[in-house]
Amino acid sequence: MGIEPVHLTKEKETLLITLYGKAMESRSKDPILRDEAAEEAVRRLDYDFSKLKVRKRDGVSLAIRAKQLDLWTKEFLAENPGGTVLHLGCGLDTRVFRVDPPASVRWFDVDYAEVIELRRRVYGEREGYRMIGSSVAEPRWLAEIPADRPAMIVAEGLLPYLEEHDARALIARLIDHLPGGQMAFDAYSRLGARLLRAHPSVKVTGASLGSWGIDDPRELEAWSPRLQLVTELTSYEPWALAKLPWVHRAAYALARRIPAVMRIGRLLRYRF
Ligand SMILES: C[S@@+](CC[C@H](N)C(=O)[O-])C[C@H]1O[C@@H](n2cnc3c(N)ncnc32)[C@H](O)[C@@H]1O
Repeated sequence: MGIEPVHLTKEKETLLITLYGKAMESRSKDPILRDEAAEEAVRRLDYDFSKLKVRKRDGVSLAIRAKQLDLWTKEFLAENPGGTVLHLGCGLDTRVFRVDPPASVRWFDVDYAEVIELRRRVYGEREGYRMIGSSVAEPRWLAEIPADRPAMIVAEGLLPYLEEHDARALIARLIDHLPGGQMAFDAYSRLGARLLRAHPSVKVTGASLGSWGIDDPRELEAWSPRLQLVTELTSYEPWALAKLPWVHRAAYALARRIPAVMRIGRLLRYRF
């Protein structure tokens, strides 16, 4: 397979940060997330990844986040082997290969058309798997999603790029369309959102981020009476903690004492 040119900018270009972080971590001696497809994608893209200045610790955090979302997706599919997965703002993430669902699962990866065009050139098709090129803020794509199966909705690194009203409208449309399921994503407090806007790698892309944050995950329950918070992960699970380099672990031991710091970035899981 050949080398693929990359002409993505702004929000779309941020997918190269997460792809590279995961690929870099995967290449480490004892990786948290083995992601050979991401490593291969990085080799094939004609893109100067060095300009993103992705740090080793970014790779570790991205790998932990992705692995936790993989685990929740696998858990959902173990209980719902005929379910649907909606992977929103998929970028070039390889979750569908990592989770490797049975053919009974309908899996949809959704991102902007330009991103999906590149994605199709980089990764193969598989049974039960479809890619949809559309903004998630555009309502029409949902008509292609089966409305009669429980769904796992995963959005990794997507919500910060939406404005609050778009996120609310999206969640309302998803809940309205689907019979039930779960929704999992990373969320940032207002402080966390400000820090993310100032992140050096994000700044390089010139992406514009939403001007909101989630200080209290229960706020979202007021968005829909069907939405119920199941898990709020502010701390590292034992498997993740064991993988952290000592400097990271020491910083984390200090951060644990300051609730506002722990709320900066979280993984949230809701049922609906
Ligand atoms: C930080 S990247 C994360 C990519 C991928 N989820 C991952 O973890 O590797 C953000 C992704 O969100 C996508 N995105 C941002 N706004 C979007 C929108 N309105 N509709 C669809 N995708 C969007 C971008 O194109 C990009 O692929």
